[in-house]
Amino acid sequence: MPLQIVQLTDIHLCDDPSQVLLGVNTDKSFDRVLSHLKRNLPDLLLLTGDLTQDGGKPSYRRLLQKVKQLSIPAYYLPGNHDDLQAMAEIIPPDSLAINRSVVVEGWHLVLLSSVVPGLVEGKLGSRTLLWLEQALQEYPELPTLVALHHPVLPLGSPWLDRLGLQDSEEFWRICGSYPQVKVVIAGHAHQEQEVLRFTAKGMVRCLVTPSTCAQFKPHSPDFATDNLPPGFRRLTLQPDGKVTTTVYRVN
Ligand SMILES: [Fe+2]
Repeated sequence: MPLQIVQLTDIHLCDDPSQVLLGVNTDKSFDRVLSHLKRNLPDLLLLTGDLTQDGGKPSYRRLLQKVKQLSIPAYYLPGNHDDLQAMAEIIPPDSLAINRSVVVEGWHLVLLSSVVPGLVEGKLGSRTLLWLEQALQEYPELPTLVALHHPVLPLGSPWLDRLGLQDSEEFWRICGSYPQVKVVIAGHAHQEQEVLRFTAKGMVRCLVTPSTCAQFKPHSPDFATDNLPPGFRRLTLQPDGKVTTTVYRVN
């Protein structure tokens, strides 16, 4: 049986549910995404960071309540807008994904924290890189998906690429040595992108997913918003390592 995953990213819930960011009420747009999802529930959800706008506990509580209504497993990764301590207090330990390795339906999911408190850009750092390598060594036979908040390759927007993963070279030095790594999913960029990375061991698909609220314009030299609707990504992971994926927009 293939594993069906939905990636939700850059939800940016605010403590005040009436707050609007870049012209979008983040609560309402997330609700619309969730009701769209209910028509065809996946096996599990990956929420890849910027779960909240300010890292406030009321935002995490509301997020948890909303996602719980779907009654499917969910893993919560942090983004640069999140507060690791507040997250760890509110999100149940079995759903918290701050460097977590999960085996499900013959796939290995490696869920990383790329957050450096106080910085917008991401960095894994030596401890997480070591942890990543150990996680990959543990299940060499399982096709592997890596998820993290910050994109691991440039996306063609100079302002945004400066705010990506600062130690992506080290990331690729490790991932490029393990042929089971099939796909890397990220958020942060509030846009849909797919970039292929060719390594000595094969090809890795790097997927970036729209936000459930406001979007950024792709291939823009400076910060610019895009008027595309909120979105999310479905992934079908086959037992033989094949991945099919589609981004959905919710009007
Ligand atoms: Fe974001």
